[in-house]
Amino acid sequence: TAYSISALILAYFCGSIPTAVWIGQAFYGVDVREYGSGNAGATNTFRVLGKKAGIPVMLIDILKGWTATNLAYFIGVSTTGGLHSNYISYQLALGIAAVMGHLFPVFAGFRGGKGIATLFGMVLAVNLNAALLCVSVFIIVLLITRYVSLSSITAGFTYLIGVTFFYNKYTNNLVVIFGMLICLLILVTHQKNIERLLKGKESRINLFKKKTA
Ligand code: G3P
Repeated sequence: TAYSISALILAYFCGSIPTAVWIGQAFYGVDVREYGSGNAGATNTFRVLGKKAGIPVMLIDILKGWTATNLAYFIGVSTTGGLHSNYISYQLALGIAAVMGHLFPVFAGFRGGKGIATLFGMVLAVNLNAALLCVSVFIIVLLITRYVSLSSITAGFTYLIGVTFFYNKYTNNLVVIFGMLICLLILVTHQKNIERLLKGKESRINLFKKKTA
């Protein structure tokens, strides 16, 4: 319907807010896409500008995904107030639209990030248990390897495994298909990272060290 299409477009615009680019430019006069991995995301902002810039970017990017996903309230609720039987698919479609905005932001020349924080915001809105599981795996892999990309990829597959095997209450075939799509998307966006990981050339993040340069 027209409502659903408007909601998807709104979700795309929401995801399109190029937090990393704008915070970098506004407070540091720097386009983070010209440094580090060249990615307009929380990780690269952390890498290039430190945690004072990286953490707000991460939180806002999570919020983008969460907000867009919750636009489902406006299209997935029936006139009697009940949730549509496939409400979660509405949520996931809106979340993915926001991720598309984050990847290809209309407000920043269509050169954005990899969508991990925004995807996390979506999962947070959809299923708190899955979100907690993913974030735990992410943190464990990050603490062990200090590779954010590997942590992101592992967390993505954790989500797929989670919705496939453990969360029956929330799971239907569409949710599993979305989970597969999300993993595929993460693999595509992290292609360069995977190449670097295989060559042992991926940069590790300095979690606790003070930024020097
Ligand atoms: O959130 C994106 C992360 O998984 C990788 O970012 O900058 O290391 O390519 P980056």
